[in-house]
Amino acid sequence: MTAPLRESDPIVVDVALGARSYDIVIGRGQLASLGARIAKLRPDAKVAIVSDKNVATLHLDATVAAVKGNGLHVSTVVLPPGESTKSFKHLASLCDELIAQRIERNDLVVALGGGVIGDLTGFAAAIVRRGLDYVQVPTSLLAQVDSSVGGKTAIDAPQGKNLIGAFHQPVLVIADTALLDTLPEREFRAGYAEVAKYGLLGDAAFFAWLEANWKDVFAGGPAREHAIATSCRAKAGIVARDERETGDRMLLNLGHTFGHALEAAAGFSDRLLHGEAIAVGMALAFEFSARRGLLPKAEAERAIRHLAAVGLPTRISQIAGGVPMLDELMDLVAQDKKVSRGKLTFILARRIGNAFVATDVDAAEVRAFLAEKLK
Ligand SMILES: NC(=O)c1ccc[n+]([C@@H]2O[C@H](COP(=O)([O-])OP(=O)(O)OC[C@H]3O[C@@H](n4cnc5c(N)ncnc54)[C@H](O)[C@@H]3O)[C@@H](O)[C@H]2O)c1
Ligand SMILES: [Zn+2]
Repeated sequence: MTAPLRESDPIVVDVALGARSYDIVIGRGQLASLGARIAKLRPDAKVAIVSDKNVATLHLDATVAAVKGNGLHVSTVVLPPGESTKSFKHLASLCDELIAQRIERNDLVVALGGGVIGDLTGFAAAIVRRGLDYVQVPTSLLAQVDSSVGGKTAIDAPQGKNLIGAFHQPVLVIADTALLDTLPEREFRAGYAEVAKYGLLGDAAFFAWLEANWKDVFAGGPAREHAIATSCRAKAGIVARDERETGDRMLLNLGHTFGHALEAAAGFSDRLLHGEAIAVGMALAFEFSARRGLLPKAEAERAIRHLAAVGLPTRISQIAGGVPMLDELMDLVAQDKKVSRGKLTFILARRIGNAFVATDVDAAEVRAFLAEKLK
């Protein structure tokens, strides 16, 4: 007898951090296994599920149902959607709620949402009662391949994004790829920039696979799972080697120095989503690498061609609402990364799949490059 076809058997990726190791469970329909998995980790726990209004409307009932009936007690907290929720105000009210719901050290907090909910909930979990355990149930592509893995949690400060936070690893990540079916296409595409990033920075074969299969990744099905699992494996490997970002983990910032500057110049608004900014940033990083003679021009063109093919922006001139001025952009670039004696740190590339940390990039050279790009 053949086994019945399951919607999707999970792919499990291990984040190897010694006593703080955890699984990332990836697959269509895996949300249904949340309660059983939690009950295994924390029998009889109280479980507080934190979400935002958009995600809660679509997926909170199913999540509550998935947790209930496993000997677990469930409560919920729903916050407004959007980056502005990563604030002291919402952190305070979330902490209040978790305490009011009597979530204690042997209980669990579940972050059900995109990177905003994951970052805020992870940070609240890090500080309430000096540290609660939490589970990530990422619902955006960006969160499934990036923000839910690695333990960086934060809120924003008026001076900049993610300035107040903690390293606090989750105890489990469940990436149900079916949840992405309701994600607006623009958000999916923006998250895809981070998927392409893993190919560009360290895995040429994966990049070539994406060139051939990206349409299936967007459509759902096994290609989507493969892309998410490969991305998670890449991030898990880097995080296991360098949890606190003193070396290798910096590679994950490919495209992010230019990207963050563009995001800031666009006021962190809908004009330019994070992943869109990273797509432009990666295109610039590859072009800049080619200009420095580090990689063949054709290789940079190939990287850019793929980003453009999926519909991501690759040029500053594509940013809605106009391009920033050179001085403003250079100030923002210098703010993002430490500058010492006119030298900037950038992630540059020798080939597709071979990025490295360059600590000696001349600010004047970056300025001349950007001046050309702003023409
Ligand atoms: N901790 C990290 O390592 C890390 C890494 C990268 C990014 N981040 C952070 O992640 C945040 C961005 O994350 P994001 O892009 O997921 O943004 P987000 O959480 O704001 O989600 C994007 C939008 O999609 C909606 N949404 C999410 N899932 C949905 C679904 N399944 N169906 C319908 N709508 C859905 C949300 O309500 C929101 O409106 C930023 O704050 C960034 O700083 C953190
Ligand atoms: Zn990013």
